[in-house]
Amino acid sequence: MAFDGLPDRKNNSVAQKDFEGEDIVGVYESIQPEWPDEVRQALADSLNKNESREVRHHFLLDVGCGSGNLTKVLANDFDRVLGIDISESMLKVAEKKVSNPKVKFQLVYDDKLPVESSSTVAVTCGISFHYLNTPVFLAECDRILVEGGVLACFVFGPNILTSLHGTPIANYSAESSRWQHIYREFQINCGMDEVVREIHLTRYEAIFNALTNPTKHWRHIAKRDVKYTIKKMLDYMSSIAGYRNKTFPDPTKDPLNIFREGLIAILREAGLEGSEDTEFVVTFEFSAMIIKKTNKFGIA
Ligand SMILES: C[S@@+](CC[C@H](N)C(=O)[O-])C[C@H]1O[C@@H](n2cnc3c(N)ncnc32)[C@H](O)[C@@H]1O
Repeated sequence: MAFDGLPDRKNNSVAQKDFEGEDIVGVYESIQPEWPDEVRQALADSLNKNESREVRHHFLLDVGCGSGNLTKVLANDFDRVLGIDISESMLKVAEKKVSNPKVKFQLVYDDKLPVESSSTVAVTCGISFHYLNTPVFLAECDRILVEGGVLACFVFGPNILTSLHGTPIANYSAESSRWQHIYREFQINCGMDEVVREIHLTRYEAIFNALTNPTKHWRHIAKRDVKYTIKKMLDYMSSIAGYRNKTFPDPTKDPLNIFREGLIAILREAGLEGSEDTEFVVTFEFSAMIIKKTNKFGIA
């Protein structure tokens, strides 16, 4: 099987060092927005209930489950759930968080999926798809999914900024968006590779375009408004894998400082004070790239 056009991230060591360690998990847990309950409906809708319920084990595999945030939300809709991750520290938190006898967690070391062929109704990735070796992972999904099963890759991003009174400040998707510009600049300054950077709203474009499966689609899932201050936004940015674990000895080249300046400028232009405690609203948008297993999984 050839995988022209799909990123082959054989040397991906990003995740291994970015998600290991109690401190890192602590920061991750304190700042990541919760998955909205609507993710359950999105997954249920994408599964053909008759087909999937006929499967003896109505089994969900959550890949890159981390500390179990998505696993926990989806667990009740399946008979059996396995969450896998390469980070022991994340899995330790997941084990404590999800005390449900039908949910198990397992440490993995590569992109091979530790389950039998044709055994799985749904494979999910909660903001983890971009860490995986795409060709290996998609071939594995093809192997383990039952006919009619789905791969659902969930993502979210802080896409719209508004004042507390509802005045628009910035929109990531707008043309020449400065918010998009400073966000991307932050990612580039952190040395994140293109696929990881793509996660934000451009929606895994290269990967999505390379998939030949006609069932592939993006589904908008939900929006959540969260009150932020500049300080909280900086905490959020510094929790992003790619910034953590790196040191930037020259403060003028520290991606977070550059981002701070950009954010202050955007807020001031919108008439806000732009101090560390200035409050504004961040709208997180949640969506999913969904691919259904038909005769062929649809990898060229
Ligand atoms: C941004 S976190 C998302 C965690 C969780 N799904 C959530 O929704 O909060 C990404 C996770 O992917 C994991 N990961 C990265 N590469 C992986 C791989 N090859 N196999 C399994 N997990 C991986 C990381 O260890 C990390 O826990």
